[in-house]
Amino acid sequence: MTNAPQTIPSIWRTLPQPVIGLAPMDGVTDSAFRHIVATYGKPDIVFTEFTNVHDICSGRLKALDSLRYSEAERPVIAQIYGKDPALFYQAAHVVCELGFDGLDINMGCPSKNVASSGSGAGLIRTPNLALELMDRTRKGIQDWADGQSLADLGLKSSALQAIAQLKAEHPELTERQKRSPIPLSVKTRLGYDCNIINEWSDCLIQGRPEVIVIHGRTLSQMYRGHSDWEAITLATQHIRKYGIGVLGNGDIQTLEQATARIQESGVNGVLIGRGALGNPWIFQGIHQVHEAFSTGTPLKLRTLEPSLEEKFQAMIKHAKCFEAINGTERFVRMRKHLGWYCSSFPHAAAMRAHMVRTNGSRDVMDILDAYLKTHMAVEATASASTST
Ligand SMILES: Cc1cc2nc3c(=O)[nH]c(=O)nc-3n(C[C@H](O)[C@H](O)[C@H](O)COP(=O)(O)O)c2cc1C
Repeated sequence: MTNAPQTIPSIWRTLPQPVIGLAPMDGVTDSAFRHIVATYGKPDIVFTEFTNVHDICSGRLKALDSLRYSEAERPVIAQIYGKDPALFYQAAHVVCELGFDGLDINMGCPSKNVASSGSGAGLIRTPNLALELMDRTRKGIQDWADGQSLADLGLKSSALQAIAQLKAEHPELTERQKRSPIPLSVKTRLGYDCNIINEWSDCLIQGRPEVIVIHGRTLSQMYRGHSDWEAITLATQHIRKYGIGVLGNGDIQTLEQATARIQESGVNGVLIGRGALGNPWIFQGIHQVHEAFSTGTPLKLRTLEPSLEEKFQAMIKHAKCFEAINGTERFVRMRKHLGWYCSSFPHAAAMRAHMVRTNGSRDVMDILDAYLKTHMAVEATASASTST
């Protein structure tokens, strides 16, 4: 295999190449899911769900939940969104203080309440503001690295308390944290209602992020059509001339597809989103991808589809992990994951219908037990009747 991508700066430089990471997905890639993904096939990098800068700075504990993570997930990048430069400056301090490995600004969210208010992909229409946000964020990161404390920022004492509480979940930080600046990246789309990635990337380049993640759709496309990898390829050729890394994103369902996309487009790596839903095994075999690129040999994936038993074990582990982090009262947010696991086995649809009504890991275990008993009884009857 030829075409090994060159390395990209900072934390990104320490990662295996090409980089294959888990894309941020609001309501999906929470700490429990990222932990499970790390257990079954560790991606090179993961992102938090996007978090509003206003929520971060006001210290709303529930909103700060999306900034929870465990050491097992590292390296982990915090993704933030909003449109107020002053809040980006403050939020950058908080992200650094919490020990994240990098900070990503969301300039790609198409959802109405985000983009139409001028945040997320809405920033594609206000390039000067986008640049200002990058500038203030970088300044926030640098000032924090130079020793500025959260107390100096004038945050409310309730916010300071909430942030301190979150930081206390990482006793290792006090020892480890060296106050060195973390890298800034941006995740975006090809344009607002048409592909303007050439001029848009020119703007982003001026903001000097270390990495730009490009999802090959416009805002108007939402998730319709296909991710345009030709556009990603052209943009990559341009952006990489400036020493900025590019990760491509969109419609990758397997590591084989990831490998092909990286080779064809020349990106430094890819992020995989929906391909990981109900499939935390998707990153298994990632070492073989790295090996293929570093040795220039063809990719030989030695991965197996998870067995039914492995799938069930993962569901239980995920449900318990979710409960340990969030308690049972929010278990409703876990249900969709359980539904996504229910595919490619007999009577999966019937099980899904039960799983989306669960209220805790005990319910999950009961459903799986009942399934196994029925399934085994049916199999035993079938094999008895064929042997008579
Ligand atoms: C449910 C859902 C939530 C998402 N939330 C975010 C988010 O918080 N931040 C972000 O940058 N992108 C978000 N995305 C976009 C994904 O990161 C990714 O760009 C998109 O799904 C295309 O990649 P894929 O085809 O591999 O899924 C989200 C996508 C989905 C489906």
